[in-house]
Amino acid sequence: MRRATVIDPGAAEETRATGARPEPGEARRWGERHQDRWLERWIRSTEDLARLQYSHRMLDAVIDEIDGRQIRIGEQWLTDYASCNYLGLDLDPEIIEAVPEYLRRWGTHPSSSRLLGSPTLFGDIEARLTALLGCEDSLVLPTITHIHMSVIPVLAGGGTLFLDSRAHRTLYDGCALAVGRGATIRRFAHNDLDWLEALLRDGSWRRPGMICLDGVGAVTGNSPDLAAFASLARAHDVILYVDDAHGFGVIGERSPAEPCDYGVRGNSIVRHMGESYENVVLVGGFSKAYSSLLAFIACPAALKQVLKTAAPPYLYSGPSPVASLATVLEGLRVNDRTGEALRARLHRLTERVLGRVRELGLATPNQSGFPIVHLPLVDPDSVDEVGERLFEAGIYATMAVYPLVPRDEIGFRLQLTAAHTDEQIDHLCAVLGRLADRFQSEPFAG
Ligand SMILES: Cc1ncc(COP(=O)(O)O)c(C=O)c1O
Repeated sequence: MRRATVIDPGAAEETRATGARPEPGEARRWGERHQDRWLERWIRSTEDLARLQYSHRMLDAVIDEIDGRQIRIGEQWLTDYASCNYLGLDLDPEIIEAVPEYLRRWGTHPSSSRLLGSPTLFGDIEARLTALLGCEDSLVLPTITHIHMSVIPVLAGGGTLFLDSRAHRTLYDGCALAVGRGATIRRFAHNDLDWLEALLRDGSWRRPGMICLDGVGAVTGNSPDLAAFASLARAHDVILYVDDAHGFGVIGERSPAEPCDYGVRGNSIVRHMGESYENVVLVGGFSKAYSSLLAFIACPAALKQVLKTAAPPYLYSGPSPVASLATVLEGLRVNDRTGEALRARLHRLTERVLGRVRELGLATPNQSGFPIVHLPLVDPDSVDEVGERLFEAGIYATMAVYPLVPRDEIGFRLQLTAAHTDEQIDHLCAVLGRLADRFQSEPFAG
C-alpha cells in the first residue's frame, strides 16, 4: 500500500540552526534541506487532502483492465461503483463502433479554439441538446469546470452570488474567481429557502444577483426544491444558476407513460420539476450519464453570443476531441431510442440497493431514489479499514473522506449504472449485510 512520504523535520531544524552559507558541493543538499522546510510546512497545511491520495487502494488507483463493470487493480477484480456512467453508454457496442467513422471524417481533434472554427459537430450537438432540454439555446464547452470558472464571473460582474453551502467544489471555485473580479458571496445553509429569502430581502446587496446551487447532489443523491428556488429568483429578479451534472441523462420531464420515477428523456432537473427556464441558467455535462467529455450551458441566445467572447474557454481553450463529440452525438441517438429502457433498468437496480439499505436499517441521505447512495460510517476513523474490507470483497466505491464531506458523514458512496448486472447487485447486497454494523443506522443525521 502506498504511504505518504515522511518528511524528516530534523533535517529542516539542522538547516535553521546553522544558518550558514553552504560550502561548495554542499549546495545541492542545502537546497534539498531548505526545500524540506517549505515542503514540510506545505504538506502539513494540506495534510487531509494529501492523506486522501496515499491512504487507500481505492484512492488514486491505477485500473489495469476493465470487463463490463468489473475493473482490475493489480491482481484484484472488483465491481466498479465509483464511476458515474449512469446509462452505461461507455460500454455500448453501437456507440463504440460508430466512433471510427467520425475520426475518419474529422481527424482526432479540431485543435483550434471554438471561436476560430467549430466543426459542424458542435452545431449539431447544440441543436439536438437545445431541443432535448426545451431551452432557448445552448453552448457547449469541454467541461462543467470550464463553464463555472468562466461563466459565473461574467454573470456575476460586480454583483452578489448567493451560494448554497453544500454546492459542488467547482461552483465554489467559479464564485471565488468572480470575487476576484469584484463580486461578493453570501452563503446560505444547504437548501434553506428561508435563509436565502432573508438574504434576498435584505436590501444591502449589489445587483446583479445570482443564486448558485447543485441540481441532483453529488453526495446526497437528492435534488433541491427547484420550483421554490426558481420562484424566489423570479420574485427578486435574480438568476438561478443550477449545476445538474448528476441529473442530466438520468432524470427528465414527467409523462403518463414514464416507466419509472426518473421521468423520461433524461432532460435534467428543470424539466423534471416542470419548471421553465425563465431566470434559470442550467449547466450540465456529458461526462457522467453520457460517458463523454463535453458540457453545456442552457441559456438565452443573446447570452450565448456574449459568452462566445466573454467566457474565456470559447476563445482560449482547446475543444473536446472528436471521439468525445462522436460519443455525445451517438449517445443522444441512443437516448432517443432506448433511453427509457436504460433509465428503467437503472431505477430497478438502484431500488434493489436502496431496498437492501432499508432492510438492514442503514442510514443514507438518499430520499430521491436517484442512483447515488451514500452510506456514512458509525466510526469515521474506521474508513480505511472498512474500505479495505470492501476492496477485499471486490467492491470498488467512492471513499467519502474528510474534508470532502463533514466528519460525521465520512463513509462510502455507491453509484449505480445501467451496465451493472443483477449478479453484481446480489453480491453488493451480501457484502453490505456482512458490514452492516459498521455503517450508521437510520435515521440519517446529516
Ligand atoms: C456537481 C458536479 N459539478 C461539476 C463537476 C465537474 O464536472 P466536469 O468534469 O465536467 O468539469 C462534477 C464532477 O465531476 C460534479 O459532480
